[in-house]
Amino acid sequence: MRSTFPKDFLFGGAISACQAEGAWNVDGRSLTIPDVVKKIDPAKRKTFLQATITKNDVEEAKTANWKDYPKRWGIDFYHTYKEDIQLMKEMGFRVFRFSIALARVFPDLHIEKPNEKALAYYDDLVDTIVQAGMQPLVTLSHFDPPIAICEKYGGWYHRDMIDIFESYARLLLDRYHDKIKYWLPFNEINAAILAPFKGSAVLNDEENYEEKCWQAAHNQFVAAAKVVKYAHDNYPNCQMGCMVAYCQSYPYSCDPLDVLANDKFDQMTNLTFLDVQSKGKYPYFALHYFKEHSIYLPIEQDSSILLQGTVDWVGYSYYQSMLTADHTEGISSGNGNLKNGLVNPYLKSTEWGWQIDPVGLRILTNRMYDRYQKPLFILENGIGKVEQLNEEKTVNDTYRIDYLRQHLKALKQAIEDGCEVIGYAWWGPIDLISSGTSEMSKRYGFIYVDQDDEGNGTKERFKKESFYAYKEIIETNGENL
Ligand code: BG6
Repeated sequence: MRSTFPKDFLFGGAISACQAEGAWNVDGRSLTIPDVVKKIDPAKRKTFLQATITKNDVEEAKTANWKDYPKRWGIDFYHTYKEDIQLMKEMGFRVFRFSIALARVFPDLHIEKPNEKALAYYDDLVDTIVQAGMQPLVTLSHFDPPIAICEKYGGWYHRDMIDIFESYARLLLDRYHDKIKYWLPFNEINAAILAPFKGSAVLNDEENYEEKCWQAAHNQFVAAAKVVKYAHDNYPNCQMGCMVAYCQSYPYSCDPLDVLANDKFDQMTNLTFLDVQSKGKYPYFALHYFKEHSIYLPIEQDSSILLQGTVDWVGYSYYQSMLTADHTEGISSGNGNLKNGLVNPYLKSTEWGWQIDPVGLRILTNRMYDRYQKPLFILENGIGKVEQLNEEKTVNDTYRIDYLRQHLKALKQAIEDGCEVIGYAWWGPIDLISSGTSEMSKRYGFIYVDQDDEGNGTKERFKKESFYAYKEIIETNGENL
């Protein structure tokens, strides 16, 4: 295959603060939602749907043993970032996606009092990434809402969250605009509907749950649009993006009813979120859905803000695909990222039941380019596996190398089809705590971290075989796949 990836294509990787940093109570950081999510029982992996978090869970976690909450200790990236970033540099990363924690910068959400210790940490982190020759891509909110949001405001459905987030983002844009080009206000913004406790701090025992979830999503759209506009007005070099967890789905059969069910699923799970942020208005089908479900949102009141804050690029995470049917009785269901679907007999799945589908990435990328006509960014892609170090102190992870190559081949084909893609960030280039199951055992990395599910281990880092494979892929600009 000839090289199709543009010369400056942003090969790299992505992590999040709440799965990597640890140091949950260091330098004034406040407690966050992921800090109160326990590890799931590994026996339930394949059937695990989605964690739920209630007010009781939050109360219980405050006095429970902190070691039972893996995201509190992460992989200690807060203290190891310098060495970890050197390893990314060694692989030749051109982009490093990381997130900043609101719970560090404004621990109690008092916007007049930023936490200088936290800012000093992020100053050095950003400098370290830049000095390593990588583009930093920053996510301002990656599944780590401070508990203070629930306690003071109930959740993101409270309008005050818009101003708080805007102040937080302005502070960071003013501080880092000349060092960071790529900005993403919210990780997988459709989590506001798919996993609201982590996306928008709406706990599962809230009354009028569905309406509050959509109100929270709407407030995040408005907040993101204001941030995009502020950046465009003040720092035109900054490239502002949006992102969903793309729940790629196919109709279960050629029965038109299955096709229709699949379209509807796609509209309200994925497209609404990207449409609002890239076109600046809600699509007709979302308006119809809200009317049908008696969901009230101040759409008219906020319409000009949404229209003025449209993004420069469109991003998505892509791990797997699933099937959707009109009638699901008797059809086996499989797992997926944030959303479960039906099993596709043509695909193999991971230990967590996620169905591996490289061709789906090509299909999706074409659809996204056709629909939005904006540069695309693959913000996450990867495979989680249970792994152990072998005697040579490495992991012979051929399955990960295969997954990587196949997905990059599919992406390359999408580029040859004519799609404009600017980057590809592997999820979890260094092993970290799983978002969905809070396990250390679900490893995505090219770098192995010596730590188990209980947090025991030296935390030493070891290069897996895939480390060298990705390095070579980047060196050759994706020519040898
Ligand atoms: C994405 C998240 O949804 O999927 C990441 O943005 C997450 O934070 C990734 O880690 C993989 O999911 P999991 O549950 O395997 O960690």
